[in-house]
Amino acid sequence: MIEIKNLNKYYGKHHVLKDINLDIREPGIYAILGPNGSGKSTLLKSIIGLVNPQQGDITMNGSNVAGSHAYRKDISYLPQIAKFPDNLRVIEMIGLIKEIRNEEADESELVRLFQLESEMRKRLRNLSGGTRQKVNMVLGFLFDTPYLILDEPTISLDPVSLTKFRKIISEKRKQGKIIIYTTHIMNLVEELSDHIILLLEGRVIFEGGIEGIYRETGSSSLENAISMLVDKNGK
Ligand SMILES: Nc1ncnc2c1ncn2[C@@H]1O[C@H](COP(=O)(O)OP(=O)(O)O)[C@@H](O)[C@H]1O
Ligand SMILES: [Mg+2]
Repeated sequence: MIEIKNLNKYYGKHHVLKDINLDIREPGIYAILGPNGSGKSTLLKSIIGLVNPQQGDITMNGSNVAGSHAYRKDISYLPQIAKFPDNLRVIEMIGLIKEIRNEEADESELVRLFQLESEMRKRLRNLSGGTRQKVNMVLGFLFDTPYLILDEPTISLDPVSLTKFRKIISEKRKQGKIIIYTTHIMNLVEELSDHIILLLEGRVIFEGGIEGIYRETGSSSLENAISMLVDKNGK
């Protein structure tokens, strides 16, 4: 369970997260939506402890995450912009992540699923954007953790990989995990989300189930409903 209370983050004078309150308690899929720059990545990074908010509290299973590291072993994190050492080979990168986490894991099924067998000996800098994202995906799903935080996992994925991604997260949902993700693919959210959190300029402007968003806007297309809420709440 993740509880976020009165979270505020500033970058200099720029107020990036504004009084965020969230209760992520039930297992299932939480989709964080919102236009570019609305604070989605900053919110996810705050949960992981990669960003230090100036005000507010985040607790995981009742303990404050500030200054603590132990809780991170319960989280798998797929960053939006992965800054991996470019000269490493894929296989070395996977080894490095296991070493850093000090955990054993078997990547072979994921490697096969994303058809990365022939890429394993290549250096990261030589991979195409889509292949890089598939490697990112393997790293994100490598450890069996109760929480998954995925920042734009679907970026530059081809349709085949996207289908595999769908399968993995619906499986994780069945296993009772908490999955928090951002994406711009609205039909994915329509299919795979139990809870929507819509951010605009650092504020939560909608929180609830997909039915709630349809009811509130009178629209039955998620894309349309989101853009109506953004227009209504924007400056
Ligand atoms: N390290 C940083 N330093 C200064 N400003 C930042 C930094 N990271 C993000 N921002 C700003 O914070 C706002 C929210 O960014 P971000 O959380 O990445 O949004 P999103 O993921 O929704 O696109 C943006 O205006 C962005 O420019
Ligand atoms: Mg982002």
